[in-house]
Amino acid sequence: MGKIIAIANQKGGVGKTTTAINLAASLATLEKRVLVIDADPQANASSGLGVDINHTDRSIYDCLVGRCDVKEAVYTTDTLHLDIVPSHIDLVGAEVEMLNLPQREYILKNMLASVADDYDYTLIDCSPSLGLITVASLTAAGSVIIPVQCEYFALEGISKLLGTIKLIKKKLNPALEIEGFLLTMYDSRLKLANQIYDEVKRHFQELVFKNVIQRNVKLSEAPSHGLPAILYDATSTGAKNYLALAREIINKN
Ligand SMILES: Nc1ncnc2c1ncn2[C@@H]1O[C@H](COP(=O)(O)OP(=O)(O)O)[C@@H](O)[C@H]1O
Ligand SMILES: [Mg+2]
Repeated sequence: MGKIIAIANQKGGVGKTTTAINLAASLATLEKRVLVIDADPQANASSGLGVDINHTDRSIYDCLVGRCDVKEAVYTTDTLHLDIVPSHIDLVGAEVEMLNLPQREYILKNMLASVADDYDYTLIDCSPSLGLITVASLTAAGSVIIPVQCEYFALEGISKLLGTIKLIKKKLNPALEIEGFLLTMYDSRLKLANQIYDEVKRHFQELVFKNVIQRNVKLSEAPSHGLPAILYDATSTGAKNYLALAREIINKN
């Protein structure tokens, strides 16, 4: 049975998409079959994995509104074993269109039922909101990765996210677990980064991944080439950090 992991934090710019792209590529490099679901209308995971988002005729949006089956919206990428269901800017309006659907919180869960077993890991890149599509993502997922940027106010908003997760566990998806808190954009030279690591560790203890993701320019350059860091520059710190994280996750599961 494949594992579905949502990558969520309603704060923007914390490294959700970078994690979706590079964790997926790392898992695929370790010969796991991986599917990325791009659930953010900004479609950064799609373009970052080389999908030409202005010329896709099927996206997650078409699946959600019942225009196509999810299998028809799966695209291959340049990384072997790594596929993606891309997003589209139309997804912005999907939440409103879905409002009257019965069981709308379960829409992604039902949708993924037909593909999740073709993959060892399905990673859902959530948008920076706690709206319906994020709720549906957390309802579909077995676990959630919460990226935390090593910055001032790192933990701001985390209690709201944890409250949402608790509520989803209670009402929609009792099996939902926290896969881990992931520290991103870590700069070991900065006292602040170490303080934040200690603070997150104090709060969440064994739920914090041992591997942190360092700040690394290759991670921010790679998406403009439509490539994960491991294909853009396999020797980069960013590529190595995400590979180590992938190993940690495989060992844990
Ligand atoms: N470890 C990192 N090192 C350097 N830049 C990073 C790192 N992680 C993310 N970034 C950059 O920070 C910005 C926000 O990251 P992103 O993954 O898009 O966040 P989110 O999806 O949470 O909004 C992007 O420009 C991305 O390239
Ligand atoms: Mg993003």
